[in-house]
Amino acid sequence: MIRANTFRSTFVILSIMTTNVETHVYARTVRNRAKYCELHPGVYHWIQQEVYAKNAVWQKVYTNQVLMEQYDWVWLLDARDAMIMNGSIDLRVLVGKLLLEEPKRSIDVIIARDFNEMNAGSFFIRSSEWSKQLLTHAWLQDEPSDHWWQEQGSLMTMRDENRVGFKDHLMELEQQRSTLFNAYFFGPGKHFQDGDFLLHAPSQGWGGLYNFIHENNLREVMRRSGRVRKAIKWQEGKPVIYYIDAADMKELS
Ligand SMILES: *[C@@H]1O[C@H](CO)[C@@H](O)[C@H](O)[C@H]1NC(C)=O
Repeated sequence: MIRANTFRSTFVILSIMTTNVETHVYARTVRNRAKYCELHPGVYHWIQQEVYAKNAVWQKVYTNQVLMEQYDWVWLLDARDAMIMNGSIDLRVLVGKLLLEEPKRSIDVIIARDFNEMNAGSFFIRSSEWSKQLLTHAWLQDEPSDHWWQEQGSLMTMRDENRVGFKDHLMELEQQRSTLFNAYFFGPGKHFQDGDFLLHAPSQGWGGLYNFIHENNLREVMRRSGRVRKAIKWQEGKPVIYYIDAADMKELS
């Protein structure tokens, strides 16, 4: 089905980072996302510095609305406590495969549950008529009361009350599958393993995230290589672009 064909869709990673964010954290996040985008043409990074929502966590709703005008999919990804770890994993393949599991549905929101509930630290929204016309409006109804779990709690309420037919447009992965794009290293259930796409450390902050990466000798997308070089090799008679770390001349994954 054509709707599931994400291979030509554009994706944008949305980061909300005001100028108050610690400089080294800001830089590390930007580098991580930039390297990923470099590996995957058609994936872009949007840094939202200006917050005009009442509370910064709601800014993602406003900025998502703007980005939906320009891109096919928005990846709403926490900026400070989440890191893309495996650059070989292609977002478009990942999302495309998920959509193909239920080709008859018009899925516009893909989100995973953690050991508690759905987690809005790393999830996807498709720019569809439904998302543009209905989702944002329904979502923002909860902003003034800014209740329990804020913009994430609002998504849960929309699901529970099936506001604007939310359930029809929602794909909610079980915690067991959260490691596809929202893996934690703590808590009950399935954990991050080396090779997983994304590592997220909600409530642990960037300090907890960096510590875990350091202690386990992991590497986020091409972090070691300040100097990435593009190279071309021939494979089965065709040119293939790959990347090397100019420091040790090793091929990067
Ligand atoms: C990254 O993911 C790909 C695809 O799932 C996998 O084949 C590869 O082993 C992973 N990379 C690492 C370093 O584990």
